[in-house]
Amino acid sequence: MTLEDIKKIGVIGAGVMGTGVAQRFAQYGYEIILVDVAENILESSKKTIERNVMFHNMMNKEKLDQKAIIERIHTQTSYQALEDADIIIENIPEIIEQKLNVYEQLTNITKEECFYLVNTSCIPIKRIADVVKQPEKVIGVHFMNPVPLQNFAEVIKTSLISEGSLNLISEFLKQVKIDCTAVNDSPGFVSNRLSHLFMNEAANLVMEGIATPEQVDMIFTRGFHHEIGPLYTADLIGIDTVVNSLDVLYECYKEDKYKCSQYMRDMVENGELGRKTGKGFFKY
Ligand code: NAI
Repeated sequence: MTLEDIKKIGVIGAGVMGTGVAQRFAQYGYEIILVDVAENILESSKKTIERNVMFHNMMNKEKLDQKAIIERIHTQTSYQALEDADIIIENIPEIIEQKLNVYEQLTNITKEECFYLVNTSCIPIKRIADVVKQPEKVIGVHFMNPVPLQNFAEVIKTSLISEGSLNLISEFLKQVKIDCTAVNDSPGFVSNRLSHLFMNEAANLVMEGIATPEQVDMIFTRGFHHEIGPLYTADLIGIDTVVNSLDVLYECYKEDKYKCSQYMRDMVENGELGRKTGKGFFKY
């Protein structure tokens, strides 16, 4: 497959990441089949994209064609619609069994040349490659949130991926102005093996009453000159996704440092998932 052959992109999962991915690739002219489990989720995802594009047009001199972007996104609730996709970008929740289940189905539907781009926070890519017929077509692409605004991704390569495939995917990302660096496969890769320790310990500090969320983040922004603090980041990601990711890290490494803070588990229990529900460590 060459770059020119890539025309139709299947995006699975229309949550925080899938919505951003669909928007970004549609903005650059790709036809998108956006798949989720229910019509209302797909509707709300398209509304989010409409809002994002409207906001972009209000804030920028360079205008985007809202109508054309929306028309390029075709919504579906069945994977069968992905049979002629050239590339699939999967963004379902960070739960290994759920992801494996999707790939076990996809491998019997999609065409042989199709690449699977796994958008995951921590799951080793090999776990997914092991359940498909063409494991050499599975590559991790850890997009950064919010995808329409972030121009960088962490690519994760298994030992099966060829230099040619890696270059193709890297060129493909460049078509939508995303640069990347490719690291070797391992749970949490580079980004989340580091960042989730920060977020987890920050939650413990709040739980122990050592500092407020504002104070924790201020130490990162004012003291360490990070653009945003760990708790604002956790809210942006979604506390449920952070908890799931820590559980994957703990399952893989069996090290206590990855044991998820009870504070975040309680937040999930109370529906405080961060930005997506209007309340997390901060209010939105
Ligand atoms: P989310 O919870 O916001 O969205 C997941 C979506 O997948 C939901 O709309 C859900 O209905 C849908 N879904 C669930 N099962 C499905 C299935 N079997 N088929 C089709 N759709 C299904 O999750 P989010 O945050 O978008 O995360 C998606 C993936 O991206 C996760 O693996 C996460 O770790 C990873 N990720 C998340 C980042 C973030 O900042 N939220 C950043 C980078 C990666």
